[in-house]
Amino acid sequence: MRGEAERAPDSEQLAEIGLRLEVDGEIATITLDRPERRNAQTFATWSALAQIGTTLPEQVRVVVVRGEGPSFSAGIDVRLFTPGGIPGQGSFASAATHDGGTIERRIREFQQGFLWLRRPDIVSIAAVQGHAIGAGFQLALACDLRVVADDVKFCMKEPALGLVPDLTGTKPLVDLVGLSRAVEICLTARVVEAGEALRLGLAERVVPAGELEAATRELASSLLTADRDAATATKRLLQGAAGRTLEEQAAAEGAEQAARIRKLFGGPAVRGDR
Ligand code: ACO
Repeated sequence: MRGEAERAPDSEQLAEIGLRLEVDGEIATITLDRPERRNAQTFATWSALAQIGTTLPEQVRVVVVRGEGPSFSAGIDVRLFTPGGIPGQGSFASAATHDGGTIERRIREFQQGFLWLRRPDIVSIAAVQGHAIGAGFQLALACDLRVVADDVKFCMKEPALGLVPDLTGTKPLVDLVGLSRAVEICLTARVVEAGEALRLGLAERVVPAGELEAATRELASSLLTADRDAATATKRLLQGAAGRTLEEQAAAEGAEQAARIRKLFGGPAVRGDR
């Protein structure tokens, strides 16, 4: 959850990593800001994303993830595949000198940069234009909603490079498009363009490239019209639905609603007890 103990990364640190964070009232915008490298992501990107998640100001309810320039993100910075890697960050070759458990722990840390975007107390929106490849596709999948430009090109390239998608993208992909289509998209590493993305449920909305920012802002504002606590409870309920039977889900609805009713309509003593 939102941790007060950890310090938020400052804007200079973020700029060095190629990220920007802007908080405007209840909306936070995270921008991948290395357009000259097509917003390629590094180990430092994922650690910083995790830190943004744990230090997000309490008032934030909507998080927009966007990319500067022509592409949302060209995926992992391919310098990490070279023996020299990225100065100060190492490389896949240096990671491979560790045992499997150590590598797995490191991956789990990187995944924290993606997992928090599904927290019930926020709604995350990816605003995606141009290429969203590999880690870029997975970052878009990590968000609750995707608004895409009509030039979007999603591609899950990891298997073509001998890797698996490991930045939390496989579950949302299967949830959205189904197992067969997910297998086909991942193993062929083909490009999914805007029309198909909309049809498959990978995008909530497709807009002309020049309207992406405005459309995202409009969606963010609409999401804020719901009551804050009811929005959190409703998202929690919806997130749990796939793992429950109808009876169990009905019971979960009742439990959430009882808490709402007591809070909204109960006396001061009741309101204070939750
Ligand atoms: N890592 C590091 N640098 C990159 C990356 C990347 N993933 N992608 C692009 N760049 C750099 C290019 O090297 C180039 O740098 P230069 O100007 O110094 O030559 C600059 O960004 C612009 O790239 P172009 O290829 O010229 O841009 P274009 O718009 O024509 O193409 C595209 C964009 C399609 C994204 C192309 O750059 C590309 O295929 N990149 C590699 C994608 C990739 O394989 N990513 C790894 C996926 S797997 C994973 O994420 C785990």
